[in-house]
Parts: sequence; C-alpha cells; structure tokens
Amino acid sequence: DKGPYRHYMLKEIFEQPESTARTIGAYVNAVDQTAQLPNEQELDFTSFDRVYIIACGTAYYAGCVAKYWFEKYAKLPVETDIASEFRYREPALSKNALAIFVTQSGETADTLAALRYCQENGLTTAAVVNVPTSTIARESDAILPTLAGAEVGVASTKAFTAQLCSLASLAVIAGRARGVLTEKDETHLTEQLMQIPGRITEALKVENAAKELAVDLSKARDVLYLGRGTMFPIAMEGALKLKEISYIHAEGYAAGELKHGPIALIDENTPVVMIAPTDPLLEKTISNMQEVAARHGKVLLITDENGAKVGADTPAWTLIAPSCDPFIAPILYSVPIQLLAYYVAVEKGTDVDQPRNLAKSVTVE
Ligand code: M6R
Repeated sequence: DKGPYRHYMLKEIFEQPESTARTIGAYVNAVDQTAQLPNEQELDFTSFDRVYIIACGTAYYAGCVAKYWFEKYAKLPVETDIASEFRYREPALSKNALAIFVTQSGETADTLAALRYCQENGLTTAAVVNVPTSTIARESDAILPTLAGAEVGVASTKAFTAQLCSLASLAVIAGRARGVLTEKDETHLTEQLMQIPGRITEALKVENAAKELAVDLSKARDVLYLGRGTMFPIAMEGALKLKEISYIHAEGYAAGELKHGPIALIDENTPVVMIAPTDPLLEKTISNMQEVAARHGKVLLITDENGAKVGADTPAWTLIAPSCDPFIAPILYSVPIQLLAYYVAVEKGTDVDQPRNLAKSVTVE
C-alpha cells in the first residue's frame, strides 16, 4: 500500500526517520550510550587484521562509505569489492580477515558466490542484510540486520540508509574493541547515531526545492556528481539513483579527480551536483565548484547553512541539508540525492518503481 504517496519510492524515502531509528535501535543502547551487536552475537575485532566489504550496486556504495568509518574510527584496513569482480579475480585473502557482505535481498547471486568463496577460504563472515530469512543471512557466521522493512521500489533508498546505520554502528563497536575509541568517543558517536532519525526528518524538507529544480535538471543529457571523503560514495550513489530511474546518464566522481579527466565534459549543458557538507574538506570542494563555474558548468550545491555561505556566489542552485557531525553526514546527505533523482524521474514521466530493464533482486549473474 502506497498510502498517500504516488510511488513506493517516495513512500520509502519518507519512511527513513522510522527505518533508521529501528536499525540504530538494534545496535545502540540509548541509556548507557554504547553500541553492541544485536542478538548477543560476538565478533572479535581484536583478531581481525583487515575487513573485506563485498556487495553490488547501492549496497556496494554503502560499503564504500563504511571503509572511511572503519579506517578512521577502528584503524582497520578495509578493501571494498564489487562481488562480481571479487569472485572471479582470485583475490589474495588474509585468513584473519572479516568479510562483510552487504545486501538488501540477501539473494544476489554474485554476493552469495563471494560469501561461499570466503567461507571456503576460512574467513569469518558477516551479512549486513535486510531479509533475515534469506540465503546470505542463513549462510553467514554473523547477521548484522538492517531493519528497513520491506523495500518495494527497485531503486534502493531506505535499505541503503539502514545499511549505513548498521555499518556505522559496527565501526563504533570495532573501534571500541580495538581500543581506538575511548568510552567518551563512543558516547559522542552513539549520540550522533541517535540524532539521525530527527535530522532525516529535517533533511526531507528539501522536497519542494528538489522538485522545483528537477524541472531544469530533467533536461540534461549528462550529470556529474562530485564529493570528497564519504561524500564520494554518496556521489556515486546519487549518480546511480539518477540513471536507474530517470535514464539520464550520470557519473559520480571524487571531486579531487575533476582535473584528471571529467572537467573536459563541463559546459553549460552538463550540470554538476556538488555534495559538500561542512567538514575539513569543504573549502577544497568549493574550489572545485568554482572551477566548474569558470567553465560555464551549472552547479547544484548540496550543503548546509554554513556551506551555503562559504560557497555563496557560484552555484546555480542550492539544496540545504541539516548541519551535523561529519560522522553521520553520509546518511543525511543520502536524502536530498534520493529526492532529486525521484523528482527528475517524475518530471520525465518514467516508471519510477519499475524502471526499464531492472529487477529488484539479481539472482542470476
Ligand atoms: O539485494 P542487494 O542489496 O544485494 O542488491 C544489490 C543491487 O542489485 C541493488 O542495490 C541495485 O543496485 C539497486 N537497484 C540500487 O538502487
């Protein structure tokens, strides 16, 4: 039932305050402000020398965000892999690694094959999974549930932010176990996690602004998404969302790569979405934005109040997200890129919930 919403996708975007609250609630104890694995499971993070995160599509981008978290907060080296590449490239694996498989359905063929490969090689495995009865959930050593609820729209939205919530919690758990984070750090980070649902409610207020500028954006043939740090995978996710449902060609790039190629694409017809919350990298991203503007590229800046002031003159359009600790920014900044893709698709009149050629779950390779 879509309720008052025109599409499941929009309904699922608006469910994110509840779906993230449920997921965070499974990992964070609100009373003592600590994080732990659900259902009394245990993973000995002091025994792992690295983490492999393996997934497809949107779930892979969640893994790419998690790499930044695990390396920063737990000092654990992370390799991220696309499951279809991992399974065939004869990876050199460390026996002391934790392999994490991120999947909404728990049935993706390549991800399942990669899980079996890791198990044959004696690795500890964990599934960040939305369907607890799925094959990948059943076959993994540990289950890290995402409690997004059933996701109907082919374009993943609430499953993605739930994956991010599980992985962010896991990074805190790992950081604490490995002695990288103090008790005080854990309190601070779990407080940030608990703020997510409320901040998502605020982020959803960009809806009307996203709808308005979708009219212009829907005329583009190509769109570039740029971001630094955790906003780089969010840029890739934004581009994937746009191409899946609006059929506009889009690419996500690390903003620092602009000069190494993609800047050649910039002209007045190629809009650039810059995702730039206030963090130590803001100024650098703003200067990339000015480079785009100097080549007559139209910029959509997605930032917070402060970022909007810093970048004031350049962007053609701005979407204001809530200000927040950089730790949770990738979760909040998922919302404007989802709404943007959604309204561009609506503007183009495509079949938002059932985009052409796509299946919700890719169970054959
Ligand atoms: O069920 P999974 O999370 O394993 O699916 C992975 C991808 O097929 C999925 O995320 C796909 O990229 C979505 N259509 C993204 O919106």
